[in-house]
Amino acid sequence: MAAQSPNVRTCGRLLRGFLYHGKLKSTSKLPLSFSYYSTSASASASATQAAKKIPPSSKKGRLLTGATIGLIIAGGAYVSTVDEATFCGWLFTATKLVNPFFALLDPEVAHRLAVSAAARGWVPREKRPDPSILGLEVWGRKFSNPIGLAAGFDKNAEAVEGLLGLGFGFMEVGSVTPVPQEGNPKPRIFRLPELGAIINRCGFNSEGIQAVAKRLGAQHGKRKLDESASTNSTGIDEGKRGGKAGPGILGVNLGKNKSSEDAAKDYVQGVHTLSQYADYLVINVSSPNTPGLRQLQGRKQLKDLVKKVQAARDEMQWGEEGPPPLLVKIAPDLSKQDLEDIAAVAVALQVDGLIISNTTISRPDPVDKHLLSQEPGGLSGKPLFNLSTSVLKEMYILTKGKIPLIGCGGVSSGEDAYKKIRAGATLVQLYTAFAYGGPALIPQIKAELAECLEMDGYKSIHEVVGADCR
Ligand SMILES: Cc1cc2nc3c(=O)[nH]c(=O)nc-3n(C[C@H](O)[C@H](O)[C@H](O)COP(=O)(O)O)c2cc1C
Repeated sequence: MAAQSPNVRTCGRLLRGFLYHGKLKSTSKLPLSFSYYSTSASASASATQAAKKIPPSSKKGRLLTGATIGLIIAGGAYVSTVDEATFCGWLFTATKLVNPFFALLDPEVAHRLAVSAAARGWVPREKRPDPSILGLEVWGRKFSNPIGLAAGFDKNAEAVEGLLGLGFGFMEVGSVTPVPQEGNPKPRIFRLPELGAIINRCGFNSEGIQAVAKRLGAQHGKRKLDESASTNSTGIDEGKRGGKAGPGILGVNLGKNKSSEDAAKDYVQGVHTLSQYADYLVINVSSPNTPGLRQLQGRKQLKDLVKKVQAARDEMQWGEEGPPPLLVKIAPDLSKQDLEDIAAVAVALQVDGLIISNTTISRPDPVDKHLLSQEPGGLSGKPLFNLSTSVLKEMYILTKGKIPLIGCGGVSSGEDAYKKIRAGATLVQLYTAFAYGGPALIPQIKAELAECLEMDGYKSIHEVVGADCR
């Protein structure tokens, strides 16, 4: 019986949320199961009511109605006996049903819908604990798993709680620009579904740092409350397991305005306004859709920029936890010399981490033959995997494994994540595969990754980092 109530409550919450937000009316036209989940008494009452409304036309009709009601009640009764983990698995699997519907919509409309759904909590919440082999500590923070949501999905921090609740070990909001800006004209996101890829030229559409700070401020306060509530009820200090966003870790990715003449000033503004909410900060100098941005990856430019941003962060008042780690996100389209320069700056200035990589302006085979290959913008997804993984490997070797690296680009399975870790990544991020696969992909990737580690006899992620570079 103890296992029943959370399921029933979850269902009730989802349905109530759906009814309330979707402005649907609970009339006799709605399925019986809606009221079934509230209480069993009301369930049978509504079942009787509904049964009354069906005209007792023929014996066949009465039999059919009786059988349907019986099936629904039996189904409901069965659902209420399964344990929470099984029920949670069902919810995640069920999300696959909406993927074909999303695929019919314009990519940006679909994306908007997905973010809104997550912001309203209309997505499943991961209740199953992560396999313990996936837990790791980076920058003094405990991650329950190394799989994160990459920047660009929740640019304005609208859905942090819902997205982290899907079971990501961490997520990154942004890129956020100081002043709100529209980004490039639409259409600016193009699907290449047969290749598991996307071309985008969003150009930092952002509501700006003030809007994001306001949202994170409100959520942050709420999460802190949630955290103390869970500490009280379980006796475990949840805060130590996660970051400022509760049990998950939250990164804030900073960008610059298109019209800004002084890039460093933009990033410093981002640090001043947003770093208090961030478990880590990212200087994004690798988007291909903001003119001149990638030039900031040059040795001198990067050195000047990182120094200024680090100084801005360190001048602020920090508690005993200290300032958030500062990472740099780089492009995959860099020469050997560029990579050596970046590695030298990163090591010399003790940059806390590198994210490798952003999207590519190249069009590797077979993308070059695709109808949309000539659309300007950055390519992400499966065709980016090899390129971004070889840059990751190169950077791991150049930095001698001294700097935590986040591997990003084309990850769509646990095996891909495993390859990134073997190539030098301590943490892994994805965007495009999640956009195609939806919430069900997250538990799948985690389970597959745990299996890869176990099959090769490893006991932890840290043991594997850079295994292919040794
Ligand atoms: C539509 C779209 C928007 C993106 N916006 C950002 C962004 O604002 N900032 C950023 O650093 N990366 C952005 N990215 C890049 C992703 O964070 C990631 O680095 C890249 O897509 C490679 O990962 P993937 O192959 O798993 O998608 C964006 C990617 C896509 C597809």
